[in-house]
Amino acid sequence: MKKILLIGSTGLVGSRVKELLSSKFKFITPDENELNLLDPKGLTSFINKHKPDSIINFAAYTNVGEAENQTGDKQGLCWQLNVVGVNNLLKSINKTTQFIHISTDMVFSGDKKDPGPYKENSPLPNSPDKLTWYGWTKNRGEELVRKAGHNVVRIIYPVRANFERPDYLRFPLRKLREGNLYPLFADQQLTITYIDELAQALSVVINKNLTNDTFHICSSNTGTSMDIIKTAFNKLNIDTQQIKSALLTEYLSKQKNPYRYLVFGGLDTKETEKELGLKFSTWQEIIDKLIKQGLTLKNA
Ligand SMILES: NC(=O)c1ccc[n+]([C@@H]2O[C@H](COP(=O)([O-])OP(=O)(O)OC[C@H]3O[C@@H](n4cnc5c(N)ncnc54)[C@H](OP(=O)(O)O)[C@@H]3O)[C@@H](O)[C@H]2O)c1
Repeated sequence: MKKILLIGSTGLVGSRVKELLSSKFKFITPDENELNLLDPKGLTSFINKHKPDSIINFAAYTNVGEAENQTGDKQGLCWQLNVVGVNNLLKSINKTTQFIHISTDMVFSGDKKDPGPYKENSPLPNSPDKLTWYGWTKNRGEELVRKAGHNVVRIIYPVRANFERPDYLRFPLRKLREGNLYPLFADQQLTITYIDELAQALSVVINKNLTNDTFHICSSNTGTSMDIIKTAFNKLNIDTQQIKSALLTEYLSKQKNPYRYLVFGGLDTKETEKELGLKFSTWQEIIDKLIKQGLTLKNA
């Protein structure tokens, strides 16, 4: 059985991957106290001691809103974890260890002039001008991983049926339950990642021992925020009359950073599906699968 080191295995994404694949691989799942991306010496000694066949890095600074307050600050935790921490990790592993780094669509701008859905080989913006600070730090982290000859796996709005931390579908359900659902954007193009299909894809990447590649794991079609959330509500027999609509373009025109959210976002999965021999669900199918797994208004 292959020995896989999971970094960030307590988070929204890593914890579900661990749950789904623990019968296929022997996982090493240190918490932040046992393995800290900001402790280069500790990282090297942990990796030398355990000698994993592969490493998957889910750990990151993921609070996009808070990260905006750190813009330009390379001593801030967002840059430190997403760039310096990734560099520390790359230095602590040898070339023969398979390394898989989880990234995001936010490395792209979602701008009308450079719209998604982005392909695996779409050129990365090389300046922070049209990105969030989080997006820029993930963009720089990806570049380090790619230069070192390792794998980047991009995901977008990861969803699962249950978890304490809300996600793209369970957040509006919680807000609705609390009586303060926000207006849904009718002009925001996106895709969503079914974490169960990410786990399946990671399993193929590990078993084929793939290196030096970029993969996109998400729904095979795009939708707007309004389409996706309204459809989930309908499938859960929730009255959708009360849903209010808004325009992201209008919202962004009043924001300090007009690129805070991607308007023309989404990831294209065709190349990844071909390479891994997988077929990803549409976002409508993902909603059906989550409902089958127990997604309801009450437990969102
Ligand atoms: N969530 C999204 O909407 C989304 C969308 C696209 C891409 N992604 C990417 O997907 C990946 C996983 O995201 P997520 O939402 O699962 O993240 P998350 O829930 O915020 O979890 C982050 C993980 O990183 C660990 N961590 C934090 N600081 C660390 C450090 N110094 N050393 C080692 N581990 C540390 C955390 O451990 P503790 O719990 O101990 O702090 C936690 O396990 C990230 O790369 C993120 O950029 C996420």
